[in-house]
This record gives sequence, structure tokens and C-alpha cells, in this order.
Amino acid sequence: MSSFVVREVREEERGWVKGFLEEHWGSSAIVTRGRVHRGEELPGFVAESGGERIGLVTFRIEERECEVISLNSLRERAGVGSALLSSAENEARRAECARFFLITTNDNFPAIRFYKRRGFFVRAVRRDALDGSRRLKPSIPRVGFYGLPLRHEVEMELPLARSGRDFGKNLVPRAGPIG
Ligand SMILES: CC(C)(COP(=O)(O)OP(=O)(O)OC[C@H]1O[C@@H](n2cnc3c(N)ncnc32)[C@H](O)[C@@H]1OP(=O)(O)O)[C@@H](O)C(=O)NCCC(=O)NCCS
Repeated sequence: MSSFVVREVREEERGWVKGFLEEHWGSSAIVTRGRVHRGEELPGFVAESGGERIGLVTFRIEERECEVISLNSLRERAGVGSALLSSAENEARRAECARFFLITTNDNFPAIRFYKRRGFFVRAVRRDALDGSRRLKPSIPRVGFYGLPLRHEVEMELPLARSGRDFGKNLVPRAGPIG
């Protein structure tokens, strides 16, 4: 298996970020909690292997909150998604954020599982929130993973341990219980 590195998004590759988000999310405008985020304007990290970009995370930090806005791995089950998520988590810690969270959707069971395995818990479910999101971004599909209706926002949060020494302690062991 080839190795990869994770590095910050460079200013000159904002156009690539825009195109990447358009390809994977229909548009670089990502709607969460009734707010439009322009992915290409956000800080982020890229995973790269042999000069090829194989993953992207974007996030925003405001008022001591860090929200992951997008996360995509193009080489799944090789640690790319976890490494990108950890990089964003590190930034949240550096900025002394009180919260590290993200919004996913009711149909995205693979992502919900992935985040739960990494210590996240479900903070809130906003029923029918996608109706409002579609008013801001009409291209959001009505049908999601497994042919399920795409309707609700699921807010997931990682409890940030108090000190940097606790970094990584939220990670659920691979063979551990899924709660
Ligand atoms: C969710 C997503 C980001 C995960 O990315 P990923 O690169 O597959 O993530 P990882 O490789 O770090 O982890 C996935 C699994 O592979 C396992 N894995 C990692 N390296 C591995 C290896 N070398 N060999 C075998 N398994 C491995 C991990 O342990 C993990 O399994 P677990 O959850 O049971 O612990 C990716 O599936 C994706 O891009 N999905 C589509 C977009 C999306 O829905 N994003 C989330 C929006 S909210």
C-alpha cells in the first residue's frame, strides 16, 4: 500500500478545491445549519500520494468552534480520512476551540459509523433541515445513500479532551464497542 502525506491547502490550489467539491458535493457551496459555506475560501488539508491528491478536509474556526465542512477520501480504508480528520482536530486544539463538530445527513450511515468509531457522538438531529438547505442549494439531491430520502441533519461532535497530552484518547480501539 502506498503512503501519503497530509499538508495544508495552498492558496494557489483554491481553484482545485472548488472543482473537487463540485465533483463530490455538486457545488463548492456547502450548506450546514442554514448557512452557506464556500469550501474554496476555507482552511483545509489535502492528502497526497505520489503527487496525486487523494483526499480533502475543509473546516471553519469561529468563536472557539471548529466545524468540519467537508471530508472526502479518494482512497478509502487506507487511513486517509482519519489522518485528515485528525489534522483538522489538531487545528481546533491549537485554536483552543471548545467544540469540534460536523454536520452529516440521515442517510450517510458509512460516515456516521466512521465518526462514531472515532469518538464522535450525536449531538443533535434536526428533522427536515434539508428542506431549508435546498432553498439555499437547490441541487441537493432528494435521495441519498442506499436510496434513502435525504432529509435530516445529524450533528456529530468529538469531545475535546482538556490537554494536548490527551490527544488521540478519543479514538475508539478498532475492536472496541460501538456505542
Ligand atoms: C468517510 C470517509 C471520509 C472515510 O475515509 P477513509 O479514508 O476510508 O477513512 P480511514 O481509512 O481512515 O478509515 C476507514 C476504515 O478503514 C480502516 N483502515 C484504515 N487503514 C487501514 C488499512 N491499512 N487496512 C485496513 N483497514 C484500514 C479504518 O480502521 C477504518 O475502519 P473503522 O472505522 O472500522 O475503524 C470516506 O469513506 C469518504 O470520503 N466518504 C464519502 C464522503 C463522505 O461521506 N464524507 C463525510 C461527509 S460528512
